Amino acid sequence: MSTDQMQGATVVAPLPAPLRGSTSVPGDKSISHRAVLFAAMAEGTSRLSGVLDSEDVRSSIGAVRALGAEVSLEKAADGSLCGGVTGWGARGPRQPDGPIDCGNSGTTARLLMGVLAPWDVRVELTGDESLVKRPMRRITAPLMKMGARFLPEGRETLPITVCGSRRLRAISYDAPMASAQLKTAVLLAGVFAEGTTVLNEPAPSRNHTELMLPEFGVDTTAADRTASVTGPARLEACEVQVPGDPSSAAFIACAAAIRPGSSVQVENVSLNTARIGFVRTLERMGADVSVRHTGSAGKEPYGVISVSHTPNLRGCEVPAEKIATIVDEVPVLALVAAHARGVTVFREVSELRVKETDRLAAVIEGLGELGVDAWADGNDLFVEGQPGLRTPAGVSFDSKGDHRLAMTWALAGLCGTAPVEVKNFDSVKISYPQFLSDIERLAR
Ligand code: S3P
Repeated sequence: MSTDQMQGATVVAPLPAPLRGSTSVPGDKSISHRAVLFAAMAEGTSRLSGVLDSEDVRSSIGAVRALGAEVSLEKAADGSLCGGVTGWGARGPRQPDGPIDCGNSGTTARLLMGVLAPWDVRVELTGDESLVKRPMRRITAPLMKMGARFLPEGRETLPITVCGSRRLRAISYDAPMASAQLKTAVLLAGVFAEGTTVLNEPAPSRNHTELMLPEFGVDTTAADRTASVTGPARLEACEVQVPGDPSSAAFIACAAAIRPGSSVQVENVSLNTARIGFVRTLERMGADVSVRHTGSAGKEPYGVISVSHTPNLRGCEVPAEKIATIVDEVPVLALVAAHARGVTVFREVSELRVKETDRLAAVIEGLGELGVDAWADGNDLFVEGQPGLRTPAGVSFDSKGDHRLAMTWALAGLCGTAPVEVKNFDSVKISYPQFLSDIERLAR
């Protein structure tokens, strides 16, 4: 690996050896955000361990500090953040001095809307050049039904000022898309509304909020496509242990699936079924992959994901109702599909267009750089695999500031046959700062 500072590009060369052995991955990003935000909302001091130290989670930490929570998280020997968060509890968040910058983090911005909606504060939320383009109406619409206001009225993107209200109404809401961020924002506001707030979704999205809120003492129900909270309730401090992030583990698993001779185990990783759709997808492609449950952190199961290379990957179809379980893994799974025999189709992936960048367009463009045919038909993504794919000389990718794309295109170089260039590789710091060193250590 080398970095050409002048052009902001990183040259990623093929790994010198197959990936072998065991590793762990940093803490789960979604669970880390929730641990920090829920602890900030709670009465008393929560003890958190295994929290992901990355730019996105630091956006949530910065936000809750500005709102009056006391955060004393410190770097532990394994690189995670551990320590206490003393919440504002019944006092509510304080009016911050200025706007809250959520950086690149959609989770911070969207969950904060639900956190702030039930309080008498006016808080402007903003973000970086990617976040200010992302849709917020999906969150403001249900929160407005509950009685919160957002200024300027009708605005669909950040910066937006949340004008909270102490008299929120409980609602029953049918979400137009499967989004855990939307679901969480509504449930968090619902904690302080009078009555039962119900959120129905078209397909199951990740359920970390439903699993964690009861740990903080909030009466929560969760079923296949519906979740509810009954308010008004209060959060009480608790202990949260964050397991490894399956979305980070997916890059190691996919690398092992496509690099001949590889055999790896990723330990202490969340095995939440709403998150390990990539394991099921790899299985459908004929990969040699298995999971072993070893424990639980609160209600979150964790364990070991093992993957060994097999030469005969085949294309498969991922149905629409499973996309939420791989929503962050579609780019790297599309790279695996590029190595498989036949066509892989990911149905109804329109949500990819509104992630940190338009990941649907970026995947088609990037695979095109590799000489692989990939196309969209409506909202379906198709990838025509090429077993024995060879990397053309001089390939240049651009992460477009999107961490998942940076790692996907780096894998094309690491597991390919010639070096590739990845512009703006630096965006890995959003979710997995030590991605390259972790993967290079497995290939020594
Ligand atoms: C997240 C939910 C997903 C995911 C994002 C994190 C969360 O977004 O893409 O990286 O922590 O709730 P949506 O559920 O809104 O699609």
